[in-house]
Amino acid sequence: MKYLPIEKELFIKNRQNFAKHLKPKSIVVLNANDIMPTNADGTMGFKQNSDLFYLSGIDQEETILVLFPDFPDEEFREILFLRETNPEIEIWEGHKYTKEEATEASGIQKIFWLSQFEKTFNTLMMEAEHVYLNTNEHIRAEVRVESRDARFIKTCQERYPLHRYERLAPILYHLRAIKSEQEIALMQKACDITEKAFRRVLQFVKPGVMEYEVEAEYIHEFVRNRSRGFAYEPIIASGKNACVLHYLANNKECRNGELLLMDVGAEYANYNADMTRTIPVNGKFTERQKQVYNAVLRVKKEAYTMLRPGNVIKEYHKEIGKLMESELIGLGLLDKIDVKNQDPQHPLYRKYFMHGTSHHLGIDVHDVGNVYRRFEQGMVFTVEPGIYIREENLGIRLENNIVIQENGIFDLMRHIPVEVEEIETLMHTRG
Ligand code: GLY
Ligand code: MN
Ligand code: MN
Repeated sequence: MKYLPIEKELFIKNRQNFAKHLKPKSIVVLNANDIMPTNADGTMGFKQNSDLFYLSGIDQEETILVLFPDFPDEEFREILFLRETNPEIEIWEGHKYTKEEATEASGIQKIFWLSQFEKTFNTLMMEAEHVYLNTNEHIRAEVRVESRDARFIKTCQERYPLHRYERLAPILYHLRAIKSEQEIALMQKACDITEKAFRRVLQFVKPGVMEYEVEAEYIHEFVRNRSRGFAYEPIIASGKNACVLHYLANNKECRNGELLLMDVGAEYANYNADMTRTIPVNGKFTERQKQVYNAVLRVKKEAYTMLRPGNVIKEYHKEIGKLMESELIGLGLLDKIDVKNQDPQHPLYRKYFMHGTSHHLGIDVHDVGNVYRRFEQGMVFTVEPGIYIREENLGIRLENNIVIQENGIFDLMRHIPVEVEEIETLMHTRG
């Protein structure tokens, strides 16, 4: 891992809070993610299972975490099973956690090698009534690949058919939606790295640069600051490409007079930033670009006031829709009378603003949570309004990451330039 060690108290507290949500006599099993194959003998980089990381801080393949908070023998209430290293692994892959290091990272005292799993698990199961297992229940997940957790569910249910099986996801989604101070500090770090890279890009962009050259500037700055890299596939979209919401090609020239939309965020210690900025390629907005830009910025600022405890996504998005409607009328893109007569199920603003304004952010970019749950202190959301005008080859989105607090929000991207004048001034001082 490139990131600095995380204080284990984060994971100790996470497990303590988690245990309160379990039924008596419950055992919990979480598996690491697989290292995903590509082709031939190729693999993707390892990405830890978010829930396993949240409860243990262990960032290594093949790990299994077993929790049994009221097991009679106190020593066996928290156990980590790890891949045991050997000289071959040392030579080809390098260092793996020692037992002492795993305890230091997680706060878990009982560390076993994987070879001890079956016997130990069987002993524990004989005292358990409920078995909590993990599935991906993100409402937009398209689950097509069988995870280690999914395979474990099958073998476990076959071997122990008479236990009562429970879903782990609702508990973890509930807990992970509220970020602790320590988590917010890690997210701040991801945002700060993103800021450094954005400032670098402001000095770099000029007519003639390629979108992929801009992408390279970001990754350079991210990795040299201990980030694994992009939190998600970066969108570097000049001119009309900005109207393609998931534009990933990043292979066009940035031309004089165009805007450049960049939706990029750094990952740090498995936490994510999710930023969007839109800048003029030549360093100066045209009047029309400025007009649309400031309309988006006003909606973003207004959205901050609605991200308060007690509000809920559906109501919030409805309010944002109204704001957007009036901005689009002001820009001459919608007609007041047409808006009055519109079908409320298909509001006209959707032609120019077709995505949501906010999503949870955390160990996952579209983080887990429940869309029907009212906003609470400690939730972290993106705020990302946009206006996309195909007929003008123009797309603008601005995206910050904020923490909901008792009275107003805390902006994790408060230092990242966003005002027209700031952007223009910084671009004019470039070499
Ligand atoms: N970058 C993904 C998103 O903004 O939701
Ligand atoms: Mn984004
Ligand atoms: Mn986002």
